[in-house]
Amino acid sequence: MNIVLVGTQWGDEGKGKIIDLLSEDANIIVRYQGGNNAGHTVMIGDEEFILHLIPSGILRSSKECVIGNGVVVDPKALLEEIQMLRGKKIDIGPHNLHISKSANVIMPYHKLTERLKEEETIGRIGTTRRGIGPAYLDKAGRVGVRMVDLLSKTQLAWKLKRHLDEINLILQKVYGEEGLSYEQLMEEYLKYGRELKDYIKDTASLLNCAIKKNKNILFEGAQGTMLDVDHGTYPFVTSSNTTAGGACTGAGVGPTKIDEVVGVMKAYTTRVGEGPFPTEVKGEMADKLRNAGPVGEYGRSTGRPRRCGWLDMVVVRRSVLINGIDFLAITRLDILDDLDKIYICNKYKYKNTYIYDFPEELEILQDCVPVYEEMKGWEIPTPEIRDFEKLPEKAKEYIARIEELAGVKIGILSIGPKRSQTIRREKVSTAKK
Ligand code: IMP
Repeated sequence: MNIVLVGTQWGDEGKGKIIDLLSEDANIIVRYQGGNNAGHTVMIGDEEFILHLIPSGILRSSKECVIGNGVVVDPKALLEEIQMLRGKKIDIGPHNLHISKSANVIMPYHKLTERLKEEETIGRIGTTRRGIGPAYLDKAGRVGVRMVDLLSKTQLAWKLKRHLDEINLILQKVYGEEGLSYEQLMEEYLKYGRELKDYIKDTASLLNCAIKKNKNILFEGAQGTMLDVDHGTYPFVTSSNTTAGGACTGAGVGPTKIDEVVGVMKAYTTRVGEGPFPTEVKGEMADKLRNAGPVGEYGRSTGRPRRCGWLDMVVVRRSVLINGIDFLAITRLDILDDLDKIYICNKYKYKNTYIYDFPEELEILQDCVPVYEEMKGWEIPTPEIRDFEKLPEKAKEYIARIEELAGVKIGILSIGPKRSQTIRREKVSTAKK
């Protein structure tokens, strides 16, 4: 059974934990888009692991992990993550980590040009500054360096010679910076190639071969649907397809091979960086959501405080539609435990009308006012509850209302960061049905 897991909001939905749970039944776990802008947190016992690039499945022994062709790889960050995991006694090597030959490489000029652009006040996106956008720009512009190029001096030289002169001109003439040295880049990136050579493979063949052998594959999405470059709140998005379709292009697996799509949603909403966020709340309420629970709402990659707000079902419904979601997993339900009132947005007021479908026009979205349904809070701690029926009645009502508004069932509920703090209702697993 092959499952795609996606975020349904603006990222940070707690996907790391759900990926970890579902990877128990998977043989192979695949990242298919994004890069080290992601921050997937997994708690094993009392130990916290934060992964940025390597699929979280690596934390379970006997699993294989793939970094697909749709990912942009910063080799330096990747090697550091490998070292970090080895330091924590995680078994990791070319036997269980496979990197696509075709994945594009994040180069130092990607990070540099992004930083310079983000320092301008006009047009800031509030990116993670990991070079993600410029790397995808070069990929689409057909001037990118791929992982396989790091294994060939002639290929890397050809690619760099073609592109570096133009980059250096921009750095010097537009930003008044010094250019980058061709020789230094060659030396550094060929060294990464030597260090990573055994990991770099034809991962599309590897995955399709595994599918033929009836292996279970979990495709883990990073970021969230509203950050998708096509379907998100453009231009305040990341530069890849974070939605379920991205799994096919980003891994080299046909859509007929995908059996199920799972959407992860937080019990409320957060966003980092700039861009529209209709249900955002400010002040005391935002601080309360941000600082409740054992792990606060601060970016795992950048440490930035996340903007917080109420659950927006216009957003979640759009995600169900775009991704073809079969089941939802709801996370951080426990964060709402102390509240006497909880609000759900099911529609926006725009001028004199109501909008139920997420608008694609930024100007409309910016003027949308959320219309809330008020629900009574349960005001009972939930982190120790393991059985859905034992949840407070008001919490069950909240879940039922979400299911009604989303049009799909919630199969998994998370009520704390630990593996054990989970309630499973439906069979949502990569085990063969
Ligand atoms: P980039 O992906 O670094 O280019 O950033 C583009 C936008 O996506 C910014 O608003 C980031 O804050 C946001 N973003 C990127 N990665 C994540 C993530 O893992 N979680 C939440 N937001 C993210």
